[in-house]
Amino acid sequence: MDKLIIRGGRSLHGTVNVSGSKNGSLPILYASLLADGPVRLRGVPVDLIDIRSTLRLLEEIGMRTFVEGSEVVIEPGDSRQSMATYDLVRKMRASVYCLGPLLARHGHARVSMPGGCAIGIRPIDLHLKGIQALGADVEVRNGYIEARAQGDRLCGGHVYLSGPFGPTVGGTINTMMAASLATGETIIEGAACEPEVAGLARFLREMGVSIEGEGTPTISIMGVDRISGGEFDVPPDRIEAGTYLIAGAIAGGEVEVKGCLPAELRALIDILERMNVRLEVGENSIRVWGQSRLVPIDTATLPYPGLPTDLQAQLMALMCRAEGLSLISEKIYPDRFMHIAELNRLGARIRKEGPIAIIEGGASLSGADVMASDLRASASLVLAGLVAEGQTEVHRIYHLDRGYEHMEKKLCSLGADVVRTHDEDGV
Ligand code: EPZ
Repeated sequence: MDKLIIRGGRSLHGTVNVSGSKNGSLPILYASLLADGPVRLRGVPVDLIDIRSTLRLLEEIGMRTFVEGSEVVIEPGDSRQSMATYDLVRKMRASVYCLGPLLARHGHARVSMPGGCAIGIRPIDLHLKGIQALGADVEVRNGYIEARAQGDRLCGGHVYLSGPFGPTVGGTINTMMAASLATGETIIEGAACEPEVAGLARFLREMGVSIEGEGTPTISIMGVDRISGGEFDVPPDRIEAGTYLIAGAIAGGEVEVKGCLPAELRALIDILERMNVRLEVGENSIRVWGQSRLVPIDTATLPYPGLPTDLQAQLMALMCRAEGLSLISEKIYPDRFMHIAELNRLGARIRKEGPIAIIEGGASLSGADVMASDLRASASLVLAGLVAEGQTEVHRIYHLDRGYEHMEKKLCSLGADVVRTHDEDGV
């Protein structure tokens, strides 16, 4: 496995271009399973491990995939399957996105249950509730979800999909895909409003499905008999954009984050401004100036348009620089705090009380060996490493490569000193 060696203390200057959205691409890649013809996607972050694993999974269940630059074409192969094995699914949780489309297309599906991961237990009960509302009989047996449409075709239904931690992005996505080939109308209430859900709705509409209400808690979908294919431009990655905004804020200097959609980053922009970070918001870019006198704040992650949980760890690294006490309450994944211990290894003073992190900012950070536990935790360690005195080695950056395209190259182009090297110890 590789590691990143960061020599901290350099300010960042210049422009960083945002890649296509990982979490926006994944549902659309899986939605191609619904189609009888080719699907062409532009702006896919093809150098991410999660995207490559998804393409491999699609191939193994009978699709043909072609990659050229950031364009991906997916075509149905000759022998399409309705099953995804543990070996395919265990590598990536989002693989459970194949449940809805496989069931809708074949009338039955057998998909391995995904496991938990470093950010928490992550149940899929709401995914199952969604397809059950469309008339599927569902059983979980021997680690597999076995789903079968009564009468061999799903039929529209009415379902409420919010759970104890709010709406579910993945459950909404799975249900939308299943409903696209069901007979009649499906209404999802308590739907996730995240831009990735809205993106999938636009793509399904492009493929001929009639959908209304995306971006609101009520989505209606009129299923069709056949989906022939379509084209789509994947929107920019709002979490990557947010991560580079925080990088600019933490490291000092002046950074332009280009090719992003500022409207999707409102909560983060508000938080950064409250912390005294200077920002200039353009139409498709945001400029950030590093600020040495940061103000501590009290905030919480929330479903969209609130602060994304996927930016919590990175924001925590910034809070370590604000003199005084900051609080982050994690409302989506109450256990998503694996980065605290590692940030503390760099000299941060953070403690956790239930789902709340209390950050006593202002301590100077000093370089150390740290271990990445999940994707966004890894990013927060890299950000902290940018301002830690001396050398920080972030091990297990496999996680980082799942969700950030060429992060070290992008940071180096801004003037950071970050080197990727093979980790001899293999940790
Ligand atoms: C998506 O995960 C993202 N993944 C996550 O990004 C992101 O953190 C999360 O949404 C929240 O925004 C992808 O888009 C591939 P949820 P998802 O279903 O869909 C609970 C990253 O770093 N829940 O919206 O799995 C769940 O436990 C990743 O890029 C149920 O109770 O998240 C959580 O508390 C990590 N039952 C809450 O709902 C269910 O059936 C929201 O989860 C499903 C979820």
